[in-house]
Amino acid sequence: MKVLVLGSGGREHALAWGFREFAGAEVTVAPGNAGTDGGAVGGTVGGASGGTGANMANRPLSALEPGSVLPLVRDAKPDLVVIGPEAALVTGVVDALMDEGVPAFGPTARAAEIEGSKVFAKHLMRTYGIPTAAYETYEDPAEAEAEVRKGLYPKVVKADGLAAGKGAIIVRSAEEGAAAVREIASDKFGQAGRRIVIEAFLTGEEMSAFAVARGQEFVLLPFVQDHKQIGEGDTGPNTGGMGAYGPVAPISDELRTRVREDVLAPTLRAMEESGRPFSGVLFAGLMVDDDRPQVLEFNCRFGDPETQVLVPLCGEPLLDAIRWSATGDGDPRQIQQRVDAEVAARGFAGTVVLASQGYPGAYDKGKRMDGLRRAAEMPQVHVFHAGTARSGEHTVTSGGRVLAVTGVGEDLRSALGRAYEAVSVVEFEGKTFRRDIGHRRLGER
Ligand code: AMP
Ligand code: GLY
Repeated sequence: MKVLVLGSGGREHALAWGFREFAGAEVTVAPGNAGTDGGAVGGTVGGASGGTGANMANRPLSALEPGSVLPLVRDAKPDLVVIGPEAALVTGVVDALMDEGVPAFGPTARAAEIEGSKVFAKHLMRTYGIPTAAYETYEDPAEAEAEVRKGLYPKVVKADGLAAGKGAIIVRSAEEGAAAVREIASDKFGQAGRRIVIEAFLTGEEMSAFAVARGQEFVLLPFVQDHKQIGEGDTGPNTGGMGAYGPVAPISDELRTRVREDVLAPTLRAMEESGRPFSGVLFAGLMVDDDRPQVLEFNCRFGDPETQVLVPLCGEPLLDAIRWSATGDGDPRQIQQRVDAEVAARGFAGTVVLASQGYPGAYDKGKRMDGLRRAAEMPQVHVFHAGTARSGEHTVTSGGRVLAVTGVGEDLRSALGRAYEAVSVVEFEGKTFRRDIGHRRLGER
């Protein structure tokens, strides 16, 4: 099987590695990173998980849109295209591949609206009674500003469109609210801030639910918890995610049932009934209070770094779920049982993100990295590359989030212990990471 993975982050490295490791696929990644570039320089990338074999190679890709993807697909002739980033989905890469007759994992542009527009997602949830924070939407920033100045705080002000994780601002006063509205309405947000959502602040514990879906059927993956903020103890600005672990445990049967029956199933039904049948992965960001889930947001793609937990944890059945979603081959009930059995057998996985100093603000690139091979050779450890590149013989940093280092183990403490042990042998100037991934379950480290 030939698989083409689109994207360049740790999520894409994990998916590419999984397809090669568990499905024996020949994998091309476009544009990829130093970890997915297995072909060049005799595979001396430095021991990335999966980067050293012959069956993984990078191809250049200038943009995540159909005009750039189609020529590559016509040339590489993959059996399956797996799309990582939402940008490619929202621009209609899956629609173009469907027209071309190439199986693709991900929703059409119309279905990707569930992530691409918060106004669309909130209206859908309100219409179908899917639990989410109370909200109003505004097109006129002056009206939004007048409203945000009223009532109780905190509130949450959100941009309608894609904003690379910066589109939700929690405000604690009228002044903060007004400033948030003005920021979202400013040129900085462009089209994404043309409409504004103001919603009630929810409390509880955040977690991510992933349903690999095809129409109304789906395979539910284990719940994963991300750590969005840069600082230990969940302090400082939000990032794309600084670490994650799964499964979140213990999870009551009641919560699992509610997520299935009150959130995922009705959302997929709603999408189909509104003429936007959803295939791909429906990622629900949840706030859970007293076993009651409420939806913070929907995404139409895998999470990063959640995927660096899910692929090592779920193994082959996850890749079968992806193939089923894209092609219809396979039985989702049987895949569900295999996912559950695989997770029960493997235990837990935890991933720690190594970032460049300064991230999520400005940071330097081009820092030489050492210890990658040693880290990747540790048992039950996977080193997934994100912002990395090659510079001559060396691997260097090239992004804000640089690596995600995953450990697997029979319990959460040993899984994260392995990840941190591997983190300690990787060196680069400005290496920044959180030492408290998993703190809600393990306490402070
Ligand atoms: P979003 O982009 O909508 O997922 O929001 C990003 C982050 O903001 C979430 O992961 C939450 O931590 C926080 N957040 C968003 N909406 C709310 C809400 N209604 N109540 C509390 N926190 C929220
Ligand atoms: N880690 C959160 C996300 O991928 O959106």
